[in-house]
Amino acid sequence: MKLEKCVTIDNVNRNLLNIRYAVRGPIVDRALQIERELAKGASKPFNRVVRANIGDCHALGQKPITFIRQVLALVSCPQLMNSPDLPADVKDRATEILQDCTQGSVGAYSPSAGLMIVRRHIVEYLEARDGVSASLEDIYLGSGASDLIKSVLTLFSGVVDGKPPAVMIPIPQYPLFSGTLAELGINQANYYLDEEDNWALQVEELERSYQEASEHSRVVALVVINPGNPTGQVLSRQNIEEIIIFAHKHNLFILADEVYQENIISKPFYSFKKVMHELGAPYSDMELASFVTCSKGWAAECGLRGAFLELTRLSPPVRSVFAASRGVMQCPTVLGQCVLDCIVRPPRRGETSFAQWREEREKIARLLAERASTAYSTFNDIPGYSCNPIEGSMFAFPQVEIPALAQEEAADLDMSPDEFYCLRLLEETGVCVVPGTGFGQRPGTFHFRTTILHSREEFQHMMESITRFHNNFLNRFS
Ligand SMILES: Cc1ncc(COP(=O)(O)O)c(C=O)c1O
Repeated sequence: MKLEKCVTIDNVNRNLLNIRYAVRGPIVDRALQIERELAKGASKPFNRVVRANIGDCHALGQKPITFIRQVLALVSCPQLMNSPDLPADVKDRATEILQDCTQGSVGAYSPSAGLMIVRRHIVEYLEARDGVSASLEDIYLGSGASDLIKSVLTLFSGVVDGKPPAVMIPIPQYPLFSGTLAELGINQANYYLDEEDNWALQVEELERSYQEASEHSRVVALVVINPGNPTGQVLSRQNIEEIIIFAHKHNLFILADEVYQENIISKPFYSFKKVMHELGAPYSDMELASFVTCSKGWAAECGLRGAFLELTRLSPPVRSVFAASRGVMQCPTVLGQCVLDCIVRPPRRGETSFAQWREEREKIARLLAERASTAYSTFNDIPGYSCNPIEGSMFAFPQVEIPALAQEEAADLDMSPDEFYCLRLLEETGVCVVPGTGFGQRPGTFHFRTTILHSREEFQHMMESITRFHNNFLNRFS
């Protein structure tokens, strides 16, 4: 007798059916398939796929920071402690971390909020960044910012006073937010970033979104991604003040996704915490969740999964509820916590590893700034393209005019015009980018997101391929 499945597509959690994550979507699947075809000797107009779909620096050739990997080597294998090949400050750091691990092993669970030593270093890092005191009790470590963002959003799921909750998110947005809200059954209230004003947040648009969502939902929180993904802007201090004042007016909890704060290219970064503090009461008393991750910045250790959350001014009972919900997960990966420790407390001047750390870090920053400037000028030179300056993060998000004929062909194939464009780009050049649809965009506008992390040669090859492709595309469809 055929065994019936317990979970079927008809009874599976309905919320999961609504999750979309274009960064690993169908175009990326097709890219992987093309890579396999090339490996089998298929003939294509290109000899390799250029993966520009994901902000994963190490996957694109960035070398790990030596200090981080040496500390990881030692905490994982303390038998190396007497090795003459490892510098004294690496040994000191590894010893300090291991002293905080149960039985001196990174293989033991840590407290669910994270190792005390790492949280202490995070407090020092935040105090130096913001000039405001930070509290150990507000710091939670996680296995990536995705893990922590989901935990915070979970606070808001559930109907109150007969209305479902809604969270305001930017459009374009990083689809972790839309995906997690869908999974948790929380309504998504979209507000559009202003492309004409370098992707700023306009208060009138925030207000429009809030009022529209309030007709059917209880709007509880506002997500801001700064520096922006996919948009690459860094918000001005004045804009942050306006956002805080707006959130205060409507009693909204702010989730500041600040994971790209160490990927600053051309404009200063201000944390929401600092600006709230400097605005003074009542703004300095608002609840705030802010996220930092090992996956971005100069370390870019995506695979090691480390991040932290600063969760300020939560009411004490909610703080206990949150701590209990984090406790259920045991603890974040301890190796990820060690990476985080090296990021928030890197080698200091006078310590053995300082010079090498500084050189490695500066090289990464130089390359990022160089790519940002090349991407900006190349995209703005292509007819029908426009691209805002890339002030931070690791992405460009150019707008592309797609001719009417191409839009019709896309419709025939049941695709959006930008998906059609990106698929053609992939098939003809091997360049894999993510269509704007995956992040959201104003109706009638078309974009794609590309990472700007490749080696100089690969990046040049990518830019030339896109330019050539677009000219052919215009010839064919205009
Ligand atoms: C804006 C933003 N937030 C959060 C994340 C999640 O990062 P992770 O879970 O790797 O820490 C990412 C990853 O790309 C991101 O771009």
